[in-house]
Amino acid sequence: MSSTIAELERRRAAAHMGGGQKRIDAQHAKGRLTARERLHVLLDEGSFEEVDAFVEHNATEFGMADQRFPGDGVVTGSGTINGRLVYVFAQDFTVFGGSLSERHAQKICKIMDAAMKVGAPVIGLNDSGGARIQEGVASLAGYAEVFQRNVLASGVVPQLSLIMGPCAGGAVYSPAMTDFIFMVKDSSYMFVTGPEVVKTVTNEVVTQEELGGAVTHTTKSSVADLALENDIDALLAAREFFDFLPLSNRVPVPERPTEDPWDRAEPSLDTLIPPSANQPYDMHELIRKVADEGDFFELQPAHAANIIIGFCRIEGRTVGVVANQPMVLAGVLDINSSKKAARFVRFCDAFEIPILTFVDVPGFLPGVGQEHNGIIKHGAKLLFAYAEATVPKITVITRKAYGGAYDFMASKHLRGDLNY
Ligand code: HXC
Repeated sequence: MSSTIAELERRRAAAHMGGGQKRIDAQHAKGRLTARERLHVLLDEGSFEEVDAFVEHNATEFGMADQRFPGDGVVTGSGTINGRLVYVFAQDFTVFGGSLSERHAQKICKIMDAAMKVGAPVIGLNDSGGARIQEGVASLAGYAEVFQRNVLASGVVPQLSLIMGPCAGGAVYSPAMTDFIFMVKDSSYMFVTGPEVVKTVTNEVVTQEELGGAVTHTTKSSVADLALENDIDALLAAREFFDFLPLSNRVPVPERPTEDPWDRAEPSLDTLIPPSANQPYDMHELIRKVADEGDFFELQPAHAANIIIGFCRIEGRTVGVVANQPMVLAGVLDINSSKKAARFVRFCDAFEIPILTFVDVPGFLPGVGQEHNGIIKHGAKLLFAYAEATVPKITVITRKAYGGAYDFMASKHLRGDLNY
């Protein structure tokens, strides 16, 4: 018996070493944590229950038979964040660059299936060179199995992706189908094809950072929701964010005890809005003054800043906030702001999160560019999202609601429950 336990301990120690000390050192030298170190920061201390720690790949070609690492490049299991259950996977870049093999995919699928069955969110820590080249189509099939589960889980359990290293090829499409993406500045990248391939095919010369870094994806492309300074900041932000989310579409939003009375008077709001309709003011200030304890978790702050989206709590419970921002483009609706808000409204609707909308909108942005790029269809996404949403919808017109934008911004005609 003792020899069996000794063998188990030996294997466990090997699994904890991932691709070996040299590769762990290389990961640290790049300012990145390992997969296990990341899970240690993300989850409550001692809460991680690992599964499939000894799973290895099944490839034999290209010299793979001799290269086996227990866990096969991904650490999977469940744990808690501030006491609430979450399923997690963390790709281990020290093992074949975190690339996805058939077995690696099966491990991810197993925890996604469990999360859907139990009703708990999935957080993926992505650090992967994409499809495991040595496995060819078996790896592609593995990706499709993960993609299928992303779709089945959509609207059933919240899905959050943290991008914590270079993510190429298939490694970007699973995160793309999750609800939210956080990236790490100067350390994480997302692209379908990297700079070398881009140069060969289109002759464009571009750095990894410019092509798919955290700043690019949180300003230009809006693929990601937040850019954090480093691994620790990203993981702590994920913990804070998780506290706003319900565990699934079957349970109510979480409730956090608050000292902030619901009837707190905020006299400064009487003078926040300038008398002239053309003068800007910062809508963030208004949101913070309405939120419990001034706590507002904003998403996509650097993209389409003419609309603000994020979560706060009122009377201790999560509320989704959408607000026009008069400080940016006078708060107009355009393609980017419509898409940004529509997706957020749909998330709230799927997970029974009430929506609070602050309206101060001069209308739609006119222009050839807007028309040619499809403002009609993209604007309609926001209209559709609000009209479809059956969660409680409270709307406050803080100053003005002009033109078509009057209709779009959770008007009472789109089943707004209370419109002040
Ligand atoms: C197998 C891989 C790998 C992969 C990296 N490695 N990517 N092994 N399959 N896809 C291995 C490397 O061989 C190396 O092994 C180790 O991981 C670290 O990689 P480095 O290149 O040394 O690291 P770095 O310089 O940081 O570069 C990281 C990288 C680069 C940018 C991700 O490795 C890279 O470009 N990889 C290939 C990306 C790619 O083309 N992926 C396939 C996309 S196709 P050793 O033994 O030296 O430590 C795809 C199709 C899916 O994903 C489509 C579905 C829709």
